[in-house]
Amino acid sequence: MRARFLQPVEIVEHVSDNVLEPVHAAYYAGPPGKYLNLLLQARQDFLSIWRVGDYREKVSQIRILGRQIVLVNAPEVIRDILVKRRDNYERKSPQMRRALEYLLGDGLFISDGPTWRQRRALVSDIVHKDRVPAFSPIIERTALEMARRWQQIPDRTTIDILPEMAALTAEIISRSVFGQELGHADTAEVSESFTQYQALVDSTNPGYFLGLDEGLPMMRTPALRRAVRRLHHVIDRIVEDHLAGRGSHNSMMELLIRRQKRNPELGLNAVALRNEAATIFMAGHETTAATLTWVWYLLARAPWVERAVHEEIAAVCGDRAPTVEDLPRLRWCQAVIEETLRLYPPVPILARQNRDADQIGDIAVRPSSLILIVPWLLHRTESLFEAPHEFRPERFMDGGRPEPYSYIPFASGPRVCPGQHFGMTEAILCLAILAQRFRIVLPPDQKIVPQCRLTLRPRDGLPGMLVHRQRGPASDTVTSPPAREREMAAVGCPYSA
Ligand code: HEM
Repeated sequence: MRARFLQPVEIVEHVSDNVLEPVHAAYYAGPPGKYLNLLLQARQDFLSIWRVGDYREKVSQIRILGRQIVLVNAPEVIRDILVKRRDNYERKSPQMRRALEYLLGDGLFISDGPTWRQRRALVSDIVHKDRVPAFSPIIERTALEMARRWQQIPDRTTIDILPEMAALTAEIISRSVFGQELGHADTAEVSESFTQYQALVDSTNPGYFLGLDEGLPMMRTPALRRAVRRLHHVIDRIVEDHLAGRGSHNSMMELLIRRQKRNPELGLNAVALRNEAATIFMAGHETTAATLTWVWYLLARAPWVERAVHEEIAAVCGDRAPTVEDLPRLRWCQAVIEETLRLYPPVPILARQNRDADQIGDIAVRPSSLILIVPWLLHRTESLFEAPHEFRPERFMDGGRPEPYSYIPFASGPRVCPGQHFGMTEAILCLAILAQRFRIVLPPDQKIVPQCRLTLRPRDGLPGMLVHRQRGPASDTVTSPPAREREMAAVGCPYSA
């Protein structure tokens, strides 16, 4: 039952012949000044608390129980915080740290200080853009396997796209970074248990507002324990296999283990290895899965864009399956992914806790305040993006680039996503390979509700009708992926560091 003071979230969506304003929460219209209500509303969904005035270029603040919250929505100031004065703003918010620590321990996503600095170099090296070409055949092969599986599903069957995309990206990250196949049962296990984890964690942390700078640890309820046990079970098995010498020689885990042997001062014991493995695994699959899910929703609602994507794939690839070499010519596919990341950034809030007192614009900021940079707002600010709520991939084409620091789906500065090249390559390739063979059709009256808890997903998944485009099986005319992998292997092992 909904508490009386919570506002029902009204979802806006406008579709016409060639204009799409895809789903978003209407501007918050609760009574002003009731910040506790706002906090409780945020606990349900962080995207439903923004008033029309928050979607403007400015810096503003509120206080909840004396705690200062500074909202930064201006590109220049974002650059100051994330880049110029980064040392003061390196630390993630207590909300984020507490919400993820049970799952990730001191993994890179939430660590700071010396631990973060030391591990950042290691982890970003593993997913560095120079290694992406070596991963690409794995992405292609895994997406083609999914295409073959979808081929077996009768035409016009309704499937839930969100877990499908989560299974695809979990398998890709596992094979490329851990050198290990997960299989259908484990990918489903990961996807289900992370969905459950997101639903159960409290990402507002009332303890912080009651005066505890570090917030309070999360209540480890039996349901939460179960979700974490299921996730750790899959990750632990990967780590144990590697420690026991059963892992693939060319994988990330082997690289970390080899480096640890050479430099024992790194302190990468089994727990640290598990935390970093869990971090890469979660950060590396959930975000891309959410992006691809939103892509299917947007294409289903904007058939004129879908048509342009289909025509481009046909013109560039003909009958063979798209490969990484086609990427520079798949301009529509890339623009669709970029526009999707603008409208539905998988990490829609970058929350930091400043170490020292500071001055942001004309706001004097106390130590340990909560600093919010909200890509969801920034990307929908009218002075930065024309018709900001509309789906217009063309804005990213023909050299169109957003103003610096106005478009930050991968964050920026020293904590920028180390997997951004991996994620972009993966998203574009998966889109091209699957859209060549399938469409997803949604009933016009189907209600999709965006919800942000840890990441931004459609709240109830994305049930859609899988329509086969008239093509042969996925293996038809593709360059044999194993052959291409052998070629890549001959070029060099991606982990021979
Ligand atoms: C579309 C795909 C992706 C998006 C939108 C995305 C977005 C982000 C964002 C916004 C952050 C910074 C969060 C913050 O500062 O609070 C981040 C961090 C991170 N991402 Fe990604 N990511 C994606 C894919 C990936 C992939 C494929 C990997 C790994 C292969 C990855 C690994 C990481 C890691 C390890 C961090 C933590 C970095 C640190 O704190 O130093 N991400 N990601």
